Amino acid sequence: MRVAMIGSGYVGLVSGACFADFGHVVTCVDKDPAKIEALTRGDIPIFEPGLDDLVATNVKEGRLSFATDLTEAVRSADAVFIAVGTPSRRGDGHADLSYVYQAARDIAKVMDGYTVIVTKSTVPVGTGDEVERIVRETRPDADFAVVSNPEFLREGAAIADFKRPDRIVIGTDDERARRVMAEVYRPLYLNQAPILYTGRRTAELTKYAANAFLATKITFINEIADLCEKVGANVQEVARGIGLDNRIGGKFLHAGPGYGGSCFPKDTLALIKTAQDAGSPMRIVETVAAVNDQRKRAMARKVIAACGGSVRGKTVAVLGLTFKPNTDDMREAPALSIITALQDGGAKIRAYDPEGMEQAQSLLEHVTYCDNAYDCVEGADALVIVTEWNAFRALDLDRVKGQMKAPVVVDLRNIYRADEMARRGFLYVSVGRPDGAADADGLM
Ligand SMILES: NC(=O)c1ccc[n+]([C@@H]2O[C@H](COP(=O)([O-])OP(=O)(O)OC[C@H]3O[C@@H](n4cnc5c(N)ncnc54)[C@H](O)[C@@H]3O)[C@@H](O)[C@H]2O)c1
Repeated sequence: MRVAMIGSGYVGLVSGACFADFGHVVTCVDKDPAKIEALTRGDIPIFEPGLDDLVATNVKEGRLSFATDLTEAVRSADAVFIAVGTPSRRGDGHADLSYVYQAARDIAKVMDGYTVIVTKSTVPVGTGDEVERIVRETRPDADFAVVSNPEFLREGAAIADFKRPDRIVIGTDDERARRVMAEVYRPLYLNQAPILYTGRRTAELTKYAANAFLATKITFINEIADLCEKVGANVQEVARGIGLDNRIGGKFLHAGPGYGGSCFPKDTLALIKTAQDAGSPMRIVETVAAVNDQRKRAMARKVIAACGGSVRGKTVAVLGLTFKPNTDDMREAPALSIITALQDGGAKIRAYDPEGMEQAQSLLEHVTYCDNAYDCVEGADALVIVTEWNAFRALDLDRVKGQMKAPVVVDLRNIYRADEMARRGFLYVSVGRPDGAADADGLM
């Protein structure tokens, strides 16, 4: 099959490289010339484990190429995927669909013969109808179908998720399009990935329902963590106690500083707007978004309390900036709100992240970026662990303590044991666990 991927960001590039790896001939298109130049040179513009090798192999095999102009790729394609961004629209929280609609117009102008246009971007219910209308308006003569095929990959594990997905959702009523999609994904259902064929609107809504549900799970355990702190219970043990119930499941039950990233915050907001517009408000999701929003600054207050009530003139070391480990993505990362709130309180910030510092620099001001974790804690009055990169899980704690001005550690990911930290002489605060209490090994 010949595939054109419009948009070569986290989703487009991973999907394109994986499709090429299945044996399809793929062109990844992006309107950002710097991105395409980098890819053509062999440089990967994002950090995603394993992506550099996957791209290099498939370019070498002649199955993967890059372009800024979509004409050639679209003309020869059996399926044209739209994988452009759908950020929150400034002001009202609706998904900004201008990139999707522009891509639809661009595709319509050049497509040739029967073409399946597939929306992989996360888009509100009814977007497929509008894409169809735009294409029909631009090219009344065109022979095409518009399919919804939402993507469920996670940054940091994107290649494994794409190649071994829990499910593939394909929304279309067009029998020809369905056959094309079956062929595109054939290598995957040989691996027995379940394919769900649904109507287009159902597929569109399924993506939002999945993300809103996961965001709700995280927010639920975060509120349980707050309650644990008040009543002297341990949230990790509660999470394990409920997560072993198959009806609940153990994933997404890690208490922390609140969800962030390029998807959950914007997708919950967009679903809230869709539901309000449809006259069927989702009050649970509205509450989840509001609770999560407040949580990030609440984490800064936790740090301030650990520092004795004020951080004015103090130095706070922050380890981990990205919204989760194994990505360089800083979009809506909790670290952004936490650092800003600490700066508002008068703190000086030193920070280190293995991959996120380049993106962070354009989003945060007056931060001293460091070369490694030990450099970061030098002279600090407190250390805050915001993102649980593996490199932070087994720090030389005596060295850390020796370099800090005061031995205060606020661990927002619960990666250390409270009893161990107390024994080593730290004032240690974590999330939803009794300070200094013995934690059982091997939890979650
Ligand atoms: N990042 C994730 O983990 C993830 C997971 C599942 C779904 N999604 C969804 O996938 C979509 C893309 O997300 P992303 O994180 O890959 O975004 P991204 O910002 O990393 O990439 C989007 C790319 O599209 C390009 N682009 C925009 N308009 C274009 C046009 N008309 N022609 C060519 N290129 C164009 C941009 O230059 C950019 O490189 C979003 O709707 C997102 O919600 C993302």
